Amino acid sequence: MIKLPLSKLCNVGTTIFSQMTQLANENEAINLSQGFPDFMPDPELLNYVDRFIKEGFNQYAPMGGMMRLKEEIAKKIENSHKSVYHPDTEITITAGGTQAIFTTIATFIKKDDEVIIFEPAYDCYEPTVELFGGVVKRFEMNAPDFEIDWNMVKNLVSDKTKMIILNNPNNPSGKILKENDIQELIKIVEGTSILILSDEVYENIVFDGKQHLSICKYPELKKRSLLVASFGKLFHITGWKVGYCAAPKALTDEFRKIHQFNVFSVNTPIQLALAEYMKNPDHYDQLNQFFQEKRDFLRKGLATTSFELLDCEGTYFQALKYDKVSDKNDFDFARELTINYKVASVPFSSFYKNKLNDNVIRLCFAKKQETLERAIENLAKL
Ligand SMILES: Cc1ncc(COP(=O)(O)O)c(C=O)c1O
Repeated sequence: MIKLPLSKLCNVGTTIFSQMTQLANENEAINLSQGFPDFMPDPELLNYVDRFIKEGFNQYAPMGGMMRLKEEIAKKIENSHKSVYHPDTEITITAGGTQAIFTTIATFIKKDDEVIIFEPAYDCYEPTVELFGGVVKRFEMNAPDFEIDWNMVKNLVSDKTKMIILNNPNNPSGKILKENDIQELIKIVEGTSILILSDEVYENIVFDGKQHLSICKYPELKKRSLLVASFGKLFHITGWKVGYCAAPKALTDEFRKIHQFNVFSVNTPIQLALAEYMKNPDHYDQLNQFFQEKRDFLRKGLATTSFELLDCEGTYFQALKYDKVSDKNDFDFARELTINYKVASVPFSSFYKNKLNDNVIRLCFAKKQETLERAIENLAKL
């Protein structure tokens, strides 16, 4: 046995999502833990993949991505946000949102650079910053409303601050940024060289007629931002691992220097299929309504239980406060729910570094009607 070098991520184990999914499988529980749909993507999209494979599009794509797909993405962004990205030089197709996030951090974060993140936070931000020697400064958003105190955020800024990572709409809280939040952020970064990594993978899942305020709508923010999106979330294909990063040319040039050695390029036939499918904007414009129906079904079903439903403005996650149901910590409670009540969830404190417990769990409602029905039935027993 050789002596292993010191781990580069000493405190990192298997993600909570994999752990809860494994526990769900072992206990034959309904898996509302990990964020993926349990239904099929649109057959039209599947047929396009089949077609492009059979037509012979099976070799490397260009490093930045297939032009046809980048053009469709540019159109989507312009139509939704009136913001123009040049498809050739400002949009890069990535292996999912995760690789776009990793590559952005790898490109810009050096030893001792400070990066501000907002908790509850998606799990890949902090380890990736640490991997490149950066230091994470965190602002905690708390249940039930997850409001941001921008004065406190401002106090986190120092002359070492290199990047702010935003996740809007936020996984797991379901909170979206409002105009006032954006204006406060603009005040903080104006006149600085701070970059923004804006993780907007749930941009098309915003409810009740509310507006997703993309970073690219605001010139002061756009010029310093790398916008990350995911087709996994957009078209129910999380396993295909395709996403993109949109950023001004100077930032994209640097991003691609790393991207070319990180993955070089991404799945050709799937890029072509996505481009074909995106020609019909209904395919993404209807997503809000599609998931709002699922959210409303879950919320209605749980309304008469002892769980407290926190607001869900976007994403496909519902946060549940359970302090009337159990006094266990959220990890133990999530385990008990999985083993005894056959519903797997994710404990909320796993999205924080220091918070021990807030009696909140996260449920994913990107599921078939019958899956949600069975979960509601089981949760109603508590
Ligand atoms: C907030 C957030 N960012 C990024 C990702 C990763 O996206 P992808 O699956 O396309 O890598 C996820 C996936 O769950 C997510 O929830």
